[in-house]
Amino acid sequence: MVILGLESSCDETAAALVTADRRVLAHKLAGQEAAHAPYGGVVPEIAARAHVEVLGPLVQAALAEADMTLADVDAVAATAGPGLIGGVMVGLVTGKALAHAAAKPLLAINHLEGHALSPRLADPTLAFPYLLLLVSGGHCQLLLVEGVARYRRLATTIDDAAGEAFDKTAKLLGLGFPGGPAVEAAARDGNPQAVPLPRPLTGSAEPHFSFAGLKAAVARAVGTASPADLAASFQQAVVDCLIDRTRRALKTAPVATALVVAGGVAANGAVRAGLEALAAEHQLRFVAPPLWLCTDNAAMIAWAGVERFQAGYTDPLDTVARPRWPL
Ligand code: KG4
Ligand code: ZN
Repeated sequence: MVILGLESSCDETAAALVTADRRVLAHKLAGQEAAHAPYGGVVPEIAARAHVEVLGPLVQAALAEADMTLADVDAVAATAGPGLIGGVMVGLVTGKALAHAAAKPLLAINHLEGHALSPRLADPTLAFPYLLLLVSGGHCQLLLVEGVARYRRLATTIDDAAGEAFDKTAKLLGLGFPGGPAVEAAARDGNPQAVPLPRPLTGSAEPHFSFAGLKAAVARAVGTASPADLAASFQQAVVDCLIDRTRRALKTAPVATALVVAGGVAANGAVRAGLEALAAEHQLRFVAPPLWLCTDNAAMIAWAGVERFQAGYTDPLDTVARPRWPL
């Protein structure tokens, strides 16, 4: 079984071909960093137009790399939300058109489900249920992944997402866009204890995350320390928040077989190391997808398509794009 996956919910356009036995036959991706960099963030209208221009050629390139045509594909999986609505519409409409033209089933994928199942593409031994920390530019959640289409949300952010905090900190420190990798690089030369910063909600009985207070504290501290020390101190505060909240969730989700991290912020080395230590403390397996599978891509959408198709799901051609779509 081969599934064509399409992703266009934020600022990456991507197409991939993935088989049921976890072979990534092709994986094409076009970032838009240069187009958004002058604005210091993703501009939705620019993003949507760029998706229109490159998605078709990326699909053709993916099929060519796998030496396939649309006729060889078993179904088309496209992100149907959540995300920037213009971009989501481009990918979903493209997916519908390809599915209709080739008379193949359509799978409308929740982008968060793509992230949530992505660790199973990389690791065939990862079984349900697992506790997932999903940390990206738009989301920060703890989910008990009980099976395909079976997600129990244990915690979410009450204000900013962790990736958003990284991006805003990068902007405050003049490190450029996209922010996460820039902050991580700057933090390597800094002292994580240099600047005292708050760790919102840590130690509290309530399950959720909060990063707005941390971001505001970074804004106040700009100029009092070097960008490297500020970046390192900020990153350490985020890691401490993520660990504290995940430790609390492990108490309420004791049936989990593994601690898993996914989403763009999962590419961060300090975040991965902190979670790995936490998993070891609880005698749990720790699973993190390879870096290319953490940030937005179409292989995770194709893989979610594989899992849903095998579970018997398909979606009608009148499925609508959803800017908001909780798992
Ligand atoms: O999953 P993703 O590619 O897109 C969303 O669905 O949001 O996540 C992007 C987010 C951005 O906020 C980016 O700054 C962050 O992930 N990110 C990182 C790193 N790489 C990407 N944050 C911290 N450290 C990184 N190395
Ligand atoms: Zn994402």
